[in-house]
Amino acid sequence: MARSQLITDIGELTTQVPGEPRLTDAALVIEGDRIAWIGSAADAPAADESVSVAGRAVLPGWVDSHTHMVFAGDRSAEFEARMAGQKYAAGGIATTVRATRAATEAELAGNLSRLRGEALRQGTTFLETKTGYGLDVASEEASARIAAAEADIVTFLGAHVVPEGIDAREYLDLVTGPMLDAVAPWVRFIDVFCERGAFDVEQSREVLEAGRRAGLGLRVHGNQLGHGGGVALAVELGAASVDHCNALTDADVDALAGSDTVATVLPACDLSTREPLAPARRLRDAGATVAIATNCNPGTSYTTSMQYCVATAVLQMHLSIEEAVWAATRGGAVALGVQDSPDAVGMLAVGGRADLQVLDAPSISHLAYRPGVPLTAAVWRAGERVPA
Ligand code: NIG
Repeated sequence: MARSQLITDIGELTTQVPGEPRLTDAALVIEGDRIAWIGSAADAPAADESVSVAGRAVLPGWVDSHTHMVFAGDRSAEFEARMAGQKYAAGGIATTVRATRAATEAELAGNLSRLRGEALRQGTTFLETKTGYGLDVASEEASARIAAAEADIVTFLGAHVVPEGIDAREYLDLVTGPMLDAVAPWVRFIDVFCERGAFDVEQSREVLEAGRRAGLGLRVHGNQLGHGGGVALAVELGAASVDHCNALTDADVDALAGSDTVATVLPACDLSTREPLAPARRLRDAGATVAIATNCNPGTSYTTSMQYCVATAVLQMHLSIEEAVWAATRGGAVALGVQDSPDAVGMLAVGGRADLQVLDAPSISHLAYRPGVPLTAAVWRAGERVPA
């Protein structure tokens, strides 16, 4: 029988089981990689090992549904220029493409592993990452392969920008043909940066339709820097998510609210690019499904901290703490299509994956009440305690 661990003396337990309020004086039992029991601490069964969390809050591990972690190089100079007033216009992507192509596979894997570890120690137990800084067949294939060794889900973002030295038509043929074939064994989704300076709506449609024919799910980078049509396209094609969502018309909000496409907001990116914050409150009020992710990348959002994103979503985007925590756990799971049993993530339920975090705080409200304070006290991923 699998080893059992009793986590007890939980001051506040957030399960994300629909309709279940935060539980107090709770306990749970992990058996192997699964949750075997949840209930009152007073009724807890015996287990091989018992861990008292002494009144702290427990919640599902973060599900970070949008990152770009396969890269080399540093763009802090670009960041400083932005803080001095320069506008973000996606031109820096070429800088990272040059550095990524020049790096060895071991260097790319090492950098990814460093960032994955950093995220995990802060409670991120499930993580998506993208290709998109290789932008030729060999570099994109290597990026996808390296990503698949470390991340839970990989997204193909060959259509990030048109790289230097090739025209747009030729590049689209590559992305939708040989590049897609090369990455296909490693990736679950295809993505496109639908924005002025990247790909227009018709080019984006071509990329997404090719991905769909190859059996991939769809995601879109949309409406980050203007009303580029990405949201409308994502909804029309039934994409799993459209990410950024900064510049939304009422029609965009209504379309998202009437669809299954998740609106993923990226608070750290909005602050780092000084774009207007994505209207998460408006989206929620309209009935759209909202997810929160870090968008960890060297250009627009060099953070792995879901706590920072949750705090910003509460303090500046006006979500309640419960809405923000839901968006950073279940919302991410829905955006990645991993919300259903038996391998659902972002939720603590009997029979489900034992991915959980303990906060050094009595309540999830401290995530925004004590912003900037590293509150992760302990993390379990698939039933294994993560070394601090
Ligand atoms: O999600 N928007 C497009 N891609 C990334 C940024 C990439 C970069 O500037 O390196 C993002 O913000």
